[in-house]
Amino acid sequence: MKTVFSGIQPSGTVTLGNYLGAMKHFVDMQEDNQCYFCIVDQHAITQPQDRLKLRENIRSLAALYVAVGLDPEKAVLFVQSEVPAHAQLGWMMQCVAYIGELERMTQFKDKSSGKEAVSASLLTYPPLMAADILLYGTNVVPVGEDQKQHLELTRNLAERFNKKYNDIFTVPEVQIPKEGARIMSLTDPTSKMSKSNPNPKSYISILDEPQTIRKKIKSAVTDTEGTVRYDKEQKPGVANLLTIYSAITGESIATLEERYHGKGYGDFKADVAEVVVNALEPIQEKYNELIHSDKLDSILDDGAARANTQAVRMLHKAERAMGL
Ligand code: ADP
Ligand code: NA
Repeated sequence: MKTVFSGIQPSGTVTLGNYLGAMKHFVDMQEDNQCYFCIVDQHAITQPQDRLKLRENIRSLAALYVAVGLDPEKAVLFVQSEVPAHAQLGWMMQCVAYIGELERMTQFKDKSSGKEAVSASLLTYPPLMAADILLYGTNVVPVGEDQKQHLELTRNLAERFNKKYNDIFTVPEVQIPKEGARIMSLTDPTSKMSKSNPNPKSYISILDEPQTIRKKIKSAVTDTEGTVRYDKEQKPGVANLLTIYSAITGESIATLEERYHGKGYGDFKADVAEVVVNALEPIQEKYNELIHSDKLDSILDDGAARANTQAVRMLHKAERAMGL
């Protein structure tokens, strides 16, 4: 049995990109693996957050984890800040990382460029992410494509630590899904769909109302050619909608191209919207049942306790290795 770890930031609404690139795959993995799915609130505070909004987002993400089909009996669902070993090992991993390699991370460059006051934590985020993963002896990390570089750094830090101190860390493999690894913005299909985009038309929230979803997809940027075919370079908007359709239904892109042969974007977009609405409906229903229930609190308490037991063991090994 393999150990799987992944996390999502409670930094805003969860998007269709987060769902198709990450959460949907978490659900598939919980059956045959020991899974840890974390709400990484300490990563979220690398950027300014409203206190009350953050609390709400943490709870909302926990409800979504369960609503998409994660079973707290099978997978450990927990909040990062409730397991202190993350921050503790995170500090130790900062001592293993070099400033130069952190400055080379494209996410750091993107999030810091043009800003006057950049928090130190925006730079040291990847060593904390490495700690998140390494604490559980993780074999596999399912993430979207945007996290590939951070995962590579995690592997390097683990190997460096093992060589320098003691061979205690499992060097994890990254697992990027074939479909849905990179869902693009609806308003600018050359950049990734992200909840941190200030324009809500650019993303679909997993909690958007059916009418909102239909409107957003109807006005998604495409091109003037008028044929539904997959061409990521020339037709990124249409390619993105095909990717969304395919990732949800499991049908191949080729099958979809054939289905929409000779049809216009209007029909195609209407169908994409229905596919998305139908996929999100049961998730939203379950979410609404859960969000105000006490059950959610006991799921998170139990998850933190289980995560803590494992994490402390690895933390102590790392401390002994370093001489703390
Ligand atoms: P965001 O970038 O939306 O703030 P996170 O950094 O919390 O999201 O990432 C949570 C997970 O969702 C990661 O595995 C990430 O790779 C995945 N993810 C984020 N955006 C997308 C996207 N547009 N397409 C596919 N996967 C994505
Ligand atoms: Na991200």
